[in-house]
Formats: sequence, C-alpha cells, structure tokens
Amino acid sequence: MGGFEYERGHLHCEGVSAAEIVDRYGTPVYVYSGAELRRRVAEFREAFAALDPLICFSVKSCPNTHICRLLREAGCGFDVVSGGELFRVLRAGADAKRVVFAGVGKTEREIREAIATGVGLVNVESQAELEQMIAIAGGAGVTLDAAIRVNPDVDAHSHEYTTTGRKQTKFGIDFDQVPEVFRRFGHSRSVRLRGVHVHLGSPVSDPGVFAQGVGRVLELTEALRGEGFGIDTFDIGGGFAAAYRDGDAPSPADYARVLVPLLRDRGLRFILEPGRAIAANAGVLLARVLRVKRSGGRRFVIVDAAMNDLIRPALYQAYHFVWPVQADGYVPESRGGEQPFEALEVCDIVGPVCECGDFLARERAIPPVRRGELLAVFSAGAYAMSMASQYNSRPRAAEVLVCDGRARLIRRRETCEDLVRPEEEIEPGG
Ligand code: LLP
Repeated sequence: MGGFEYERGHLHCEGVSAAEIVDRYGTPVYVYSGAELRRRVAEFREAFAALDPLICFSVKSCPNTHICRLLREAGCGFDVVSGGELFRVLRAGADAKRVVFAGVGKTEREIREAIATGVGLVNVESQAELEQMIAIAGGAGVTLDAAIRVNPDVDAHSHEYTTTGRKQTKFGIDFDQVPEVFRRFGHSRSVRLRGVHVHLGSPVSDPGVFAQGVGRVLELTEALRGEGFGIDTFDIGGGFAAAYRDGDAPSPADYARVLVPLLRDRGLRFILEPGRAIAANAGVLLARVLRVKRSGGRRFVIVDAAMNDLIRPALYQAYHFVWPVQADGYVPESRGGEQPFEALEVCDIVGPVCECGDFLARERAIPPVRRGELLAVFSAGAYAMSMASQYNSRPRAAEVLVCDGRARLIRRRETCEDLVRPEEEIEPGG
C-alpha cells in the first residue's frame, strides 16, 4: 500500500502511526509518504533508463512546495500549466531549464514569465498561441524553446473529462495541421520549435494505446526531421496509471516495455510527465467519523472530509479504497479486493457538504465504525488537495509529510480567518 501499512492492526505511514498524526494535526488531513514518492520516481527512472528521460513531475497532481522540493532532490523536473505552478516550483528551488510549460490558455503574462524565468520548453497548444509567443519573444529580443503539442486523435479510453488526445477536445494542434505549422513557423528565430509533445489523457490504462499515440507522433516527427526541421526533443506526456485497487494498473516497467523499443536510438531527448503514478498512492486522506445515520434503507457514515477535500468520486465516479485507521481484527488483505470478513457493513461514506454528490465512497462494505473513529481514504496523493476548494466555507485541510520516520506539517490547516481575508484585505476604493 505504498508507504502505508497496517502494523498490529493500526495504519502507519513509514512506521509513524496515523492516529498519532491525527492527534497532532487533526482531521481532515492529507498524509504523504516521502519514501513512496522517491520510490516511484526511482521506478520510472529505472524502467525508462534506456531513454535517459527528464522526468517532469506533473505539478497539478500534487503542488505542495515541500513535495516539489523533495521531488526536485530526487532528480525531477516539472510539468507546469500556469504561472501559479511555475511560481511554486521556482519557490521549491527548481531549475527553470528543467521545467516544461503546457496549457491551452496561457496568458500574455504567463508567456512573459516563461521567458523571464528561462523555462526549458513551452508546449504550444495552437497556432494563435505560437504567433503570440513569436511576437512577445521577438519583441523582447530573446529565443524561446518550444514544442508543438500534437493532438494525435487517439482515444485513451479514460474518463470523458480527462481524455485529451481525441481531436474533438481543446488540446493540442490537429495532427494533420502540424506539418503546416512547422513549415510556416519552424524556422522562427524567436521561438525555436525544437520539440513535439503529446499527452493522450489521464490515465492511459493500456500501454498499447499509449504506444499507439506516441508512435503516431513519432512518425510525424521523423517526417518533419526529414524535411529539415531541427526537432531534438520528444515529450511523451503523462497519464501513467496508478493502482486505485491493488494490481489494477500497469507499472512504469509495463509502459516502458512497449515505449522504449519504439523510442530508443532516435537521437531524441525524452521528457515524461507523470503525476498520479508518482503521487496518488503516496498519499492518504484521514477523516473522522462524525456520526452514523440510517435513512431510506441506506447506512450513511458521515465523516469530516468532503467533496471539497476530494472531488474525484463526485466528478469522475472515481474509486478510492476506504478503511478504518484502527482496523484491529479487520486488516485488509488488499486495497479494493474482496475482504475475508463476514461482519462488514455496507454504507455510503459521505461528507457534510450540502449536495447529494458529496460522497467519498458508495455502497462500500467496511468494518463497522462508530462516531469518533478514523477512516483512511487511500490513493489521495494526487488530484486530492490540488483540487480542493473551500466550498461550504470549509477551510482546506492540513498536509503532513512523513520522511525518515518523522511526520511534519507541510501546509497548515486553513482557518476561518483565511476564508475571509481576501475579502477584507481590500485597498480603500479598490
Ligand atoms: N501532462 C499533461 C499535459 C497533462 O494534461 C496531465 C494531466 C499530465 C501530464 C499528468 O497526468 P497524470 O500522469 O497525472 O495522469 N483531475 C483528474 C486528472 C486530470 C489530469 C489533467 N492532466 C483526476 O483526478 O483524475
């Protein structure tokens, strides 16, 4: 279970008791395992060693600056999609040259920031954006390195909202239009088109489909190089799956098995942009049971974490394994599989937010729990805190990082003062 194990019936993160973390920092709280984050980066590095890629952690999955710092120290660069993410990774000490900047709607200000900070590669999502970038970089008398994000029209069969490589989506430049874009702008001196980028979706659970999309773009790249364009960088994007149920996702090695033979010895520099595959299972969300209620023939376990802390179940009908922190005689055999216990109770695990969509798990068989007990929501290291909101005026939860057997706060719990501060700190006349 990543860095999380049941020891003597109680959940621990790298030997630190989850219950003790809650005693110190309260609930809801996200807890991350530093060792697991590092282990996943090492797994990617080893699997893709033959390509010697730059692993650019996808910041949107888990943007805490302390996590970014840890990942930078583990050798990662970063995939950012906003000025805010760029700000964060620079705060975390990132070398801007090891940062790639994507996003369909970069503002002029963000383009200028990418130039000013010396971002290594900007991934271009439309011809109009490229023209704007050429004008800005040309005006500033600088050269910006860029890649064309190619939309290969390959269906990743992910959730509709996170399938980005089909041509009906807003992402990238249509496969068929890319040669024309290179012919028109490929020799610009202010924006040097030295790369191609592809990201099919999130997650791309079938390595064969991943290879299909990458293969299409590789063929196009070779054709463009044949025409004399100096493409030396290939960013194959992210979307490597994470196991939300034990064993339900390919490993980095499974992806490498199909991708490395395709890509090696091409004379290209490779970039990978994994997010969830590194962070998802390196984090849990701990919540306390507020009360248990029966209604309409259903059993609701109401906890103090909600859709504002983890929106994935509501937004994508995503599965997250949930289990008591103090499981005693009910230590789970795996995350998500059949459990060998008879006395489980089927319930909906819900938050206090005023929406029926506010659930963390539905119709889930878990050990009987009572008010005051703690539940762990697993695989909450990616797209959990990063998508959190203050909906229902709920201050955002704390984040704790466990490293070398020590838990430390890496984001304090927000307060009610934090809720109103931006409304009160307004200049007179503003
Ligand atoms: N690169 C690009 C260009 C991306 O758009 C994304 C994710 C990634 C890399 C990282 O994907 P990953 O390796 O983490 O799958 N909120 C959704 C996921 C949205 C992902 C958007 N882009 C979720 O909770 O599943």
